[in-house]
Amino acid sequence: MKLYSRITGTGSYLPPRRLTNADLAAELATQGVETSDDWIVERTGIRARHFAAPEVCSSDLGLEAARRALQAAGAEATDIDLIIVATSTPDMVFPSTACILQNKLGANGSTAFDVQAVCSGFIYALTIADAMIKSGAAKKALVIGAEVFSRILDFKDRTTCVLFGDGAGAVVLEASDTPGILASDLHADGKHVGILCVPGHVSGGKVLGDPLLKMDGQAVFKLAVGLLDEAARNTLAKAGKVAADIDWLVPHQANIRIMQSTARKLKLPMDKVIVTVDQHGNTSAASIPLALDAAVRSGKVKPGELLLLEAVGGGFTWGAVLLNL
Ligand code: ACO
Repeated sequence: MKLYSRITGTGSYLPPRRLTNADLAAELATQGVETSDDWIVERTGIRARHFAAPEVCSSDLGLEAARRALQAAGAEATDIDLIIVATSTPDMVFPSTACILQNKLGANGSTAFDVQAVCSGFIYALTIADAMIKSGAAKKALVIGAEVFSRILDFKDRTTCVLFGDGAGAVVLEASDTPGILASDLHADGKHVGILCVPGHVSGGKVLGDPLLKMDGQAVFKLAVGLLDEAARNTLAKAGKVAADIDWLVPHQANIRIMQSTARKLKLPMDKVIVTVDQHGNTSAASIPLALDAAVRSGKVKPGELLLLEAVGGGFTWGAVLLNL
């Protein structure tokens, strides 16, 4: 019998400290940095984001999201034989955030590792978990996106610090004799490293270079729209589907204008697009599972529907996953 993988539960977690654009603008003003709710909403669609407390790490946010996904799937931590955490803001240089989370969750002994593909991280992690389940290497996986992007923001750079937030989302992905994940498509092009990066690194007990996020917003915007369209079309073609078959597009939540452009290229109305960027900001690898969980829990997205998940991020990396929920 052919083996497939299927999402059986979703979960998410946002740290309690929520800042509206007005809250953030007031904080930035104390440091002489000027911005406004109007500017942020008009250019990005973002209205609020959550920031984690200083002692809270990606593994803590991911742990809560994982617990909620397990509960939704009716599964126990001890059932899990694979944990993949997608993050660009790991707890430590090493070991992986997945190992730290695994121990907190009590899933000791499972395979556990991190995936670093920035905002495409969840798409990469889901594709890897799907391949491992299809090959028989795992039966029940937790795929998690968890980020504390507030730690790598330069709050003196208004062109970037208003865009991002913290949070986590998770899915339980299980072996199944019906699909599940139908197709996926992953790519990267390292020649674009410089337009979106955190260029610092640790050496000799010091951080060398700048450990804060740098972005050429317009270059990112231009690349993102074309690459998302390419990933969406490749993935649909692999599954013998067309854009009109999609019930829901669940895009990486970077910027409403990127989402609108992508939907327009696919000729999908915006009421088929899951949008949470207004409430979460850009939570990088956490944004898709956060959006998916919000849509599932609100009853918008229903079992059996066809979903296209897609993302683009630093690297550059990009990709998409087509699945039946
Ligand atoms: N508040 C007020 N004014 C601002 C702010 C701010 N936060 N940031 C920039 N400005 C000003 C600039 O200084 C500039 O002023 P000037 O004309 O006097 O020089 C003006 O606004 C326009 O700046 P631009 O950078 O040209 O603004 P743009 O329209 O390109 O919007 C943005 C910037 C929102 C970053 C846009 O380029 C964008 O959406 N890029 C995509 C990047 C993105 O979404 N990245 C997310 C990470 S990557 C990913 O997840 C895929």
